[in-house]
Amino acid sequence: MNLRMEPQAGAAFDLGDDAAYQAWRARKLARFPKTLAELVVQVRDPRALSSGERQALLERCERANMAIYASAAGDDLDKEIPRRLGLQLGLRDLDANYLADDDGISPLAVAARGTRGEFIPYTNRGINWHTDGYYNPPERTVRAVLLHCVARAESGGENDLLDHEIAYIQLRDLNPQHIRALMAGDAMIIPARIEDGRVERPEQAGPVFSVDAGGFLHMRYTARALSIKWKQDAATQAALAALEGILGAPSPWVFRGRLEPGMGLVSNNVLHTRTPFSDSARHQRLIYRARYYQRVGAAPAADKMKLHSLSIGEKR
Ligand SMILES: [Fe+2]
Repeated sequence: MNLRMEPQAGAAFDLGDDAAYQAWRARKLARFPKTLAELVVQVRDPRALSSGERQALLERCERANMAIYASAAGDDLDKEIPRRLGLQLGLRDLDANYLADDDGISPLAVAARGTRGEFIPYTNRGINWHTDGYYNPPERTVRAVLLHCVARAESGGENDLLDHEIAYIQLRDLNPQHIRALMAGDAMIIPARIEDGRVERPEQAGPVFSVDAGGFLHMRYTARALSIKWKQDAATQAALAALEGILGAPSPWVFRGRLEPGMGLVSNNVLHTRTPFSDSARHQRLIYRARYYQRVGAAPAADKMKLHSLSIGEKR
């Protein structure tokens, strides 16, 4: 017996199976939220969700690969808020970025000086379209990102959000060859990071779009030209130009919002931007960011074991 509620989505991303793609596409677009407000779930305490709150967050992530929660946590600095919220959504394994605090949850705020200040997230500058951790090696693929707002800026600091499955649909509808080019394993090269003459991270090639073992679409992308080398052939260049066109045009699929204190974004690492912001004495932006190797809603280990033994039992 198949215990999954949904059919395997993997075939939808197979360029040779147009029928599977069309069926998945129609269902996806029909169920996609029309407004940012549809993504918002009021939760009483992110540390201890009710089953209704948890289901509402999972349901939005299933439809749009993202959900926004609004809580009364306000400016509470407790990192247990994002950590425990993540755990309740199946997010367990944090990507320990070397700039993150020891617990793997990065406090994003303007850094006065030091190493963090050299990286855009720790400045008040805008950040163009990207997915998180696009430079990570495959064994550290960032499948989910949680942003929890402790404090907002005086002005700015909004996020544009685009479900990467929608970007995939837009590109494939324009020309399936764009998808083929961006699924190539050598489409995108992350240059080595060299510090003090030492290779801190070797050069690494990989695809933009890939399909994981569970049949889910993953996307690695950055619009920054500085930190990346793209394959120079005509097909890749045409696909990139088309993607830039999609991301640069006004779109009914893009949501823009600003997280207020106590609010947060849970996502399967969707495409996003950040607008520049200004802090004041009263409002200094602070966002906790957690990156995970699981997707939202991945069954907790104990449940997985239960499912496994169930299916074995039924085969007998
Ligand atoms: Fe990001």
